[in-house]
Amino acid sequence: MLVFAGIVFAIVEGTLIAMIVKYRRGKRARNLDGAQVHGSTRLEIIWTVLPVLILVAIGSFIFVELPKIANPPSASAADETTITVEGHQFYWLFRYPNGAVSVGTMIAPAGEVVNEDVLAPKTEVIHSWWVPELGGKIDAIPGRTNHTWFKAPVGTYAARCSDLCGIQHAKMIATVDVVPRAQYEQFISKRAAQPSSIALGQQEFQGVCAVCHRLATDYVGPALGTNPLLTDEKGLRGILMNGVGNMPAVGDDWSTAQIDALVTYTKTLKKKTGASGNAG
Ligand code: CUA
Repeated sequence: MLVFAGIVFAIVEGTLIAMIVKYRRGKRARNLDGAQVHGSTRLEIIWTVLPVLILVAIGSFIFVELPKIANPPSASAADETTITVEGHQFYWLFRYPNGAVSVGTMIAPAGEVVNEDVLAPKTEVIHSWWVPELGGKIDAIPGRTNHTWFKAPVGTYAARCSDLCGIQHAKMIATVDVVPRAQYEQFISKRAAQPSSIALGQQEFQGVCAVCHRLATDYVGPALGTNPLLTDEKGLRGILMNGVGNMPAVGDDWSTAQIDALVTYTKTLKKKTGASGNAG
């Protein structure tokens, strides 16, 4: 496109300058009219056909190349992972093939095709999963699954939501941690073996609750430190599943183990806040 645009630019601007020089007024009278011309069939055919050919060339190139971007390169089953990416107000949740879950940070194996099923629970709004270094944006639409993929070397890649989805949209950020396969396997087997681990609970608290709440002070939502629901498993479950007031149902598709993990973690907070008065 740059080559075509460059050629057209040179022709148009070159002709413009040539005409300015060639037909400058010089010593001619100010009111002298130029020669009257009408039509040039050959010229008109050229400036119609040539742009058509250029557009056909660019269009054909795109149609040939586009599938290579949209579809992952073929890989063996052993060399392929599918991770589910869920958009929620206001966090990203990741589900792995063995049932493991993480919040805010996706762990993915390096140097192989990683398929992403991008979706949002039915009660959600539309979000957009965007990891600029790993490819384009793809919408997380309630009740629909979109597909994309990446293949990346070891590294840490910033991700964010790119669809305005509510008051904390700007805080809806995440990280994709691409690590060697063995490290990835280790992470997901540990998570799957302990589905209500305190590590997951901490991720949930920091990645989900703390986006809108602080312990000691009101923030987007009210302070949590003095709220008895913080460690009340049944109450917490209700609020996560159904939301309350302005708070969305942030955990309406969480498993019992995921909620247990959060409670396990918030109980440690209660101890801390209890010990130090009401520090956040
Ligand atoms: Cu989700 Cu913006």
